[in-house]
Amino acid sequence: MSLLERIAGEIRRSGPITVERYMDLALNDPQAGYYAARPRLGEAGDFITAPHVSQMFGELIGLWAAETWAALGEPARIVLAEMGPGDATMIGDVLRAARAAPAFTAAAEVWLVETSAPLREIQRSRLGETARWAQRLEDLPRDAPVILLANEVLDCLPIRQAVRVAGGWRERRIDAGPDGALVFAAGEPIEPPGEPPDSPEGAVFEWSPAVEALGRAAGALVTRAGGAALFIDYGRDGPEAADTLQALLGHTKRPPLAEPGEADLTAHADFPAFLAGARAAGANVSRIVPQGEFLRRLGVEVRADALARARPDKADVIVRQMRRLISAEGMGTLFKVTAVSSSGLIPPAMEME
Ligand SMILES: C[S@@+](CC[C@H](N)C(=O)[O-])C[C@H]1O[C@@H](n2cnc3c(N)ncnc32)[C@H](O)[C@@H]1O
Repeated sequence: MSLLERIAGEIRRSGPITVERYMDLALNDPQAGYYAARPRLGEAGDFITAPHVSQMFGELIGLWAAETWAALGEPARIVLAEMGPGDATMIGDVLRAARAAPAFTAAAEVWLVETSAPLREIQRSRLGETARWAQRLEDLPRDAPVILLANEVLDCLPIRQAVRVAGGWRERRIDAGPDGALVFAAGEPIEPPGEPPDSPEGAVFEWSPAVEALGRAAGALVTRAGGAALFIDYGRDGPEAADTLQALLGHTKRPPLAEPGEADLTAHADFPAFLAGARAAGANVSRIVPQGEFLRRLGVEVRADALARARPDKADVIVRQMRRLISAEGMGTLFKVTAVSSSGLIPPAMEME
């Protein structure tokens, strides 16, 4: 039985499910969830991310990590962790760039926080003995400061949705039609947290308790033994009514309820919820910076110039890749960066609240 049929069966037995439940099943169902069973990242798969666009992305994050380590007073041991490392492209670029700071590389104990078994296998084949794995942030070592990196992880955590109707909001639920197809339905009345005022009827508002919980976990992690966490994703930096649930299969957008488990499923990252969670855990939180601005601050233009001089035959490609990462038409504005840190630590290229 397909995951779609199983979900329709659950709905027939117990009633329409929340978008949160649907997303969790579509991505994480142990037998057929997208990440649990068949994640396909990269050009030949369903989607590409910034590390696939250019090696400069991970290299500059490696520089960010080395500078954060220096700002922490160059501890002799540090946990350098990436959450949701996918096919390990970014951590590979981070570690290569970090070789420019041999004392940092020597201090770094590399950990990957990954829930997907097939992706763990790919990561293991790429990194071998140089890394260790954890299932959750809470499982990372507690006895050393930490630098945590995460790119495009918040967008695959489940969201809830509310739909505006006359006189208020209702939880958006997913029902099964007579033909077994899944359809959206308005559920029970609800007061969603932080919803924008004056939303017209039919507007959809999203929020993510899972993202807030991750913010709390990241905040607790960095305050425990010192350190910083960097989260990069596409998403919103304030309240905004929009339906951003999106499925991608072979780089093509698909209806989000059509192929649970077959297509990747994401929603815009709820940055305000993430930061609220981290603040509640006692961490310092940064302003939210557009990715283009963040990479410029870390010297992406200088890096692109150096790469182009070393490979004049590839200069055009390198400039095009850089523009894609930083321009408003590319990933420069929709994608955003935030950091949370322990008391007194201002991570590079960030302004703290
Ligand atoms: C969209 S991919 C991004 C991969 C990689 N960071 C990149 O930029 O190419 C999402 C990654 O997060 C992982 N992931 C999803 N939910 C997770 C969770 N709750 N804890 C840890 N990793 C998770 C996925 O398995 C995958 O590695």
